[in-house]
Amino acid sequence: MHLPDLNEARKRTSKENKYINLKEDIKKVFHDKKYYLKTYGCQMNVHDSEAIRSYLEALGLKEALNIEEANVIVLNTCAIRENAKDKVVGFLGKCKYLKKNRDDVKIVLAGCMSEQPDVIKEIRENHPYIDIIIGTHNLYDLPKLLTEKFSEQVIEVYSSSDEVIEGMNFVRDSKYTAWVNIMYGCDKFCTYCIVPYTRGRERSRKLEDIIKEVNELKEQGYQEVTLLGQNVNAYGKDIGTTFSYLLECVAKTQIARVRFVTSHPWNFTNEMIDVIAKYDNIMPYIHLPLQSGSNRILKKMNRRYTKEEYINLFNLMKEKIPNVAITTDIIVGFPSESEADFEETLDVVKTCEFDGAYTFIYSKREGTPAASMPDDTAYSVKEERLQRLNELVNYYSNKNNQKLLNQEVEVLVLGVSEKDQNKVYGYTDTMKLVNINGPQEIIGKIVKVKITSAKSFSLDGDYIA
Ligand code: SAH
Ligand code: SF4
Ligand code: F3S
Repeated sequence: MHLPDLNEARKRTSKENKYINLKEDIKKVFHDKKYYLKTYGCQMNVHDSEAIRSYLEALGLKEALNIEEANVIVLNTCAIRENAKDKVVGFLGKCKYLKKNRDDVKIVLAGCMSEQPDVIKEIRENHPYIDIIIGTHNLYDLPKLLTEKFSEQVIEVYSSSDEVIEGMNFVRDSKYTAWVNIMYGCDKFCTYCIVPYTRGRERSRKLEDIIKEVNELKEQGYQEVTLLGQNVNAYGKDIGTTFSYLLECVAKTQIARVRFVTSHPWNFTNEMIDVIAKYDNIMPYIHLPLQSGSNRILKKMNRRYTKEEYINLFNLMKEKIPNVAITTDIIVGFPSESEADFEETLDVVKTCEFDGAYTFIYSKREGTPAASMPDDTAYSVKEERLQRLNELVNYYSNKNNQKLLNQEVEVLVLGVSEKDQNKVYGYTDTMKLVNINGPQEIIGKIVKVKITSAKSFSLDGDYIA
C-alpha cells in the first residue's frame, strides 16, 4: 500500500477560525439576546449548524426556548429538492409575522439555498424582511454580519470562499457521537444535483488536523466519529493522500467507533474495503448510493459506473467485510426514465437486498444539466414508481432486520427514546436503530442488547446486564 508523505498534505494552507475569543465590547451587544436555529437537509448542514451555534454563543447569545422569544432566527437551509425549499418558504411566513413591529428580531438565511442565485432573487422579492443571506462558504462571516446589524461595530473577517477553516469550536448536539468534516464540496457533477454549485469544489482538510480533532473528541469521552464528505472516497486527491490512509489513521486513534458518509461507487477502491475489513473499530456499514439501475439513465446522470460495476462492488464488500450492512439512495423519474429503466432499478434492489434505502422522486434543480433534459413522464407515474420501489425496499429492510431476531448486538446508546420515555435508544454497528429496555445509566456506553422484535425501520431489544 502506498503511504503518502504527510508533508505533502501540509502544503495546503488552512486558515484559523478567528472568532473563538471575541472582545468583551462585542459581547455586550448580544448579552441579552437569544437565538433560534432551525436546520434542514443533510449531515453537512447538521454539522454546519453546530458551527453556527458556536458563533452565536461566542457572541454571547443564548438559545431561545421558542421562536417567539428569539432575537436572531437562523434558517440553515437545504436545496436538494423542491420540497426542501418549500419547507423553508413555509417557515419564512412565520418569521415575517414575528418581525412585525419588532426591530430587535433579525432573520438569517444560511445554507445551500443561499448559494442558488435564482432562488435568492426570488426570496429577495418575496421576503424582503430577511436581514442576512449568508452562503455555505462564508459561514464564518456570521459574527461580523450580525454585529453590523445590531450595532455600528465591525470585526475583521476572511474573504476567501474556497478555503478550509480550522480551529472551529463546535457546539455539538451529542456528547457521545460527533461529526467530523474531512472534506468540503463535490466535483462529481451528477447532472441532477445542486450540491457542486452550493458547496463548491472538493477541498480536503489536512490529515493531521482531522486526526487532532478525533483525538480531542476521544479525550472528551466521545465513543464515535462519523467522517463527513459528499463523497468521502475522493478525500485527499487535492493534497496527495487517500481516504484509505486517512481511515487507517483514524482507526489507529482507537476511538471506539469510526463511521463515514457518503461513499461514491465510482472511486471506492479495494484498499478502502481492505482497511474497513481490517479494523474492528471501523463499523461494518456503508451507504452506497445507486441512484438508478439502468445503464442508460446512469450515463445521463453522469454517475460514472454501470449497473454491473455497482453490483460487483456491492458483492465484493459483502464478501470481504463480515456482516456488512449496505444502504443506498435511489431516484425515480429522472428525465426520460421508462418503465423498462425503472424495472432495472427494481432488479438491482432484488439482487442487492439493501438494508435500507432513501428513495426520491426526481426534482428539477435550476442550473443543473438535467434541468434542460426532455421529460415526458407524468408525475402520477413517478409517484406510482416510488410506491412500488418503497414496497420492495421495505420488504428487504424487514427481511434483513428479521435476521437479527434473538441475536446479541452491540449498541452505542445515545439517549432516551422519543416514543417511550421508559426506554433508551441507540445504533448497532451496522447503523440500525434499536429501542432498548434498559436503565438510563447505559446512555453514552456501548452495551450488549438482545433483539426481541424487528420491523422495517427499527429493532426492539433488552439490555443484557
Ligand atoms: N453526495 C451524496 C448525496 C448527496 S444528496 C452522494 O452522491 O451520494 C442525497 C441524495 O439526494 C442523493 O443521493 C440523491 O439520491 C438525492 N438527490 C439529489 N439531487 C436530487 C434531485 N435533484 N432530485 C431528487 N433527488 C435528488
Ligand atoms: Fe450530488 Fe453527485 Fe456530488 Fe453526490 S456525488 S453531492 S449526488 S453531485
Ligand atoms: Fe441539502 Fe446542501 Fe446537504 S442542498 S442535502 S443541505 S449539501
